[in-house]
Amino acid sequence: MTLRALELFSGIGGFAAAVAELDVRVMGALDQDPAALESYRLNFPDHPTRRVDLERVSAWELIAPAAELWWLSPPCQPYCERGARRDLDDHRAGSIMHLMELLSRIPGAALPRHLALENVVGFVGSQAHGRLVELLAGRGYQLRERLLCPTQLGIPSRRPRFYLTASLSPLAPEKPASPRSLSPLAEYLDPMLTEGALEELFLPDEIISRFGAALPILEPDDPLSVTTCFTSGYGRSLTNAGSYLRCGSRVRRFSPEEIIRLLHFSPAFRFPPGMTLRRRWGLAGNSLSVVAVREVLAAFPEF
Ligand SMILES: C[S@@+](CC[C@H](N)C(=O)[O-])C[C@H]1O[C@@H](n2cnc3c(N)ncnc32)[C@H](O)[C@@H]1O
Repeated sequence: MTLRALELFSGIGGFAAAVAELDVRVMGALDQDPAALESYRLNFPDHPTRRVDLERVSAWELIAPAAELWWLSPPCQPYCERGARRDLDDHRAGSIMHLMELLSRIPGAALPRHLALENVVGFVGSQAHGRLVELLAGRGYQLRERLLCPTQLGIPSRRPRFYLTASLSPLAPEKPASPRSLSPLAEYLDPMLTEGALEELFLPDEIISRFGAALPILEPDDPLSVTTCFTSGYGRSLTNAGSYLRCGSRVRRFSPEEIIRLLHFSPAFRFPPGMTLRRRWGLAGNSLSVVAVREVLAAFPEF
């Protein structure tokens, strides 16, 4: 039977991409970023989307779609080194705090049967984590937590993430990720770009001579090449935001479309025409590994 889902902090739709082939109907995709929503609508035109500040959303807005699964990808900055790990003192934690408050008082019969959350590894052990686990357990959810990186699923890209699955019914028996051999990075690259078609992707020579030794530069044909995690700051921050590629005598950034491919969105995925490179990098770097989400969803007996 079709499972009804609500996608909170929907971004460009990593969850929607993960369930595209499954018997899931997305009843609502909620986010506050107009650019993310524009991209979402282009790729998932049948899903109802809404621009909503989840720090202010009402319980009714969440309950009305009668979704059996809520997927949450709240902002990770409160739990990241780069965001100074201010946890609940970070204003960006306000939305998850508000959702927890709503979850604590929604009548039992209106609670979603399943709930899942994705965040950075730094979320583990945070105050937000502690409160969420306590709240969900108190409301009768059975919980499962795991760390998963796409490299464990054969994808040559690091993006370790924490996943929480919670259910009011028994979770499916736990299965460790079956080890898969790493796919070559070259499979994810755009051959056109390797020939230098897009000048904007190339790093200036003076940057390479000054900082090259500190940058994670990959050889495109090396079968062991694995990217570091791409963040929303890729293209703005030189370091700790993602990998680079050697391209003959020059070095280039990955294109947003290559990052999207590494996340395993469908080849049909498109950004809205005219969206800037910076914006596309920002949205791709904020998204999630579609393959990892599918793996995590297996905790629910319907999948
Ligand atoms: C880590 S990203 C999640 C991205 C998404 N899973 C995807 O596949 O693209 C966090 C998202 O939360 C949104 N967001 C942050 N604070 C929000 C708030 N208070 N209300 C609604 N959306 C918010 C951001 O715009 C961003 O798209």
